[in-house]
Amino acid sequence: MAGNWKMNLLPNSAQTLVEALSNEKPQHTQVLYFPSAPLLGCMAQWNLGKAQFGSQNIYSQSSGAFTGEISAELVHALGGQFTLLGHSERRTLFGETSAQLQDKIVAAWKHQLTPILCIGETLEERESARHFEVIQHQLLDSLKKLLPITSPLILAYEPVWAIGTGKTASVDQAVEVHQFIRSVLNELQLGLGDSTSILYGGSVNAGNAGELFSQSDIDGGLVGGASLKSEDFRSIIHIQDQCLHG
Ligand code: PGA
Repeated sequence: MAGNWKMNLLPNSAQTLVEALSNEKPQHTQVLYFPSAPLLGCMAQWNLGKAQFGSQNIYSQSSGAFTGEISAELVHALGGQFTLLGHSERRTLFGETSAQLQDKIVAAWKHQLTPILCIGETLEERESARHFEVIQHQLLDSLKKLLPITSPLILAYEPVWAIGTGKTASVDQAVEVHQFIRSVLNELQLGLGDSTSILYGGSVNAGNAGELFSQSDIDGGLVGGASLKSEDFRSIIHIQDQCLHG
């Protein structure tokens, strides 16, 4: 269960949040935090309990004259173990492309970070019934030159129209796309779709977590707004853990 803090929380509130949850010991759920970059160095100093953390983005190069960018090497040196890649806000606000993401995935693997590749369609793409095509392109453009994939990779399906809007994909919509993602991955590489964890993201909250995470094709969540309040995030973690237990 991944909490994407986006460009929110100052050091004090971030520390209060993670330490409020540090006693949580979900049996089947791995909790991940994605703080904004300047907080990465603090995360290893704070008591996270069993939770782990990562960055919201990395650059494709390990070091050099790339003002404003963050390297996978640095994230790893600070204790991070994961990185989000291709979040829709990165794609739409900062022009990130699937082809660039391919190089970022390689950089993540080189420095022992597990990439969480985010994909998803806009409202216009869904309304014009192009969502499968868009998702297939995002997957192929980011992954096809990396085959065979033998390093850890997590996918996150986040319909853009559900992010921060309070609108969640229906369970049927989410499951249908997760199954589609698995089939595209299986076509790319035998068994890849079956072995890859696929998270759902987009207005996940304690009210909708149960119906989403009880689906066997939805392996976990990428949570934005509701990960900023310890009570809300705790409830979501518990619900997910019960779903995996049951
Ligand atoms: P949200 O964000 O839960 O606030 O919709 C999810 C995300 O952008 O990862």
